[in-house]
Amino acid sequence: MGQIITFAQQKGGAGKTTVLAHLAVAWAAEGRRVALVDLDPQRSLTRWAGLRDDPDLALIDSRDYRAASDLRSASRAHDVVLVDSPGAASTLLDAALRESTLVIAPCQPSALDIWAIESIRAAAERQRTPLRILLNRVPPRTTSIQEVLAALGPRSDLLLDSCLGNRVAFSQSLLQGRTAPEISRRSIAAEEVSALRAEIDAVLAAS
Ligand SMILES: Nc1ncnc2c1ncn2[C@@H]1O[C@H](COP(=O)(O)OP(=O)(O)O)[C@@H](O)[C@H]1O
Ligand SMILES: [Mg+2]
Repeated sequence: MGQIITFAQQKGGAGKTTVLAHLAVAWAAEGRRVALVDLDPQRSLTRWAGLRDDPDLALIDSRDYRAASDLRSASRAHDVVLVDSPGAASTLLDAALRESTLVIAPCQPSALDIWAIESIRAAAERQRTPLRILLNRVPPRTTSIQEVLAALGPRSDLLLDSCLGNRVAFSQSLLQGRTAPEISRRSIAAEEVSALRAEIDAVLAAS
């Protein structure tokens, strides 16, 4: 059975789709069989996958009422199943979390994003699914990491060591159905994605 990773965050615009797309391409480049499941009504992952038209990334069509069984069958045929989830708490989100090996909550270093973590943390705990928080769109010269840790309080032990900077390459590449490392292989963005992929692999191996 492949691993199912759901990207969730109550607050919109945290970077779920951006991070998911980057990791999908990174895992596919490692030879992993990757499936994408878009449960977000905004359907931005579906649009990106349509632009990309990549035989190595299987876009699985799913519907709310059969999401859980779709995730299970996708995990039988793929090594990693990446799920873009609806932002707000819902029975659909609960179903996705219940099937998942890991939940990743992208979070910008702002109070509003950090406070929004609590809802996804509670939902993940209800489904007994491990959660990791990824700091995304971290501005350069950030002195705010310490403030973020303080704001996260006891949740700071859920924070991944890797983070993604606030870089135009992350957003612009998606418009072309690509990802930042494909546009510039030797870039800080590419290093960040590679470090993040390796860290999540290690979390999965330990779980
Ligand atoms: N690391 C990043 N650097 C720059 N822009 C980013 C980054 N991550 C996300 N964005 C931008 O932030 C916005 C929200 O990201 P998106 O992935 O659509 O969030 P979500 O799927 O959680 O709603 C988009 O315009 C995206 O291009
Ligand atoms: Mg999205």
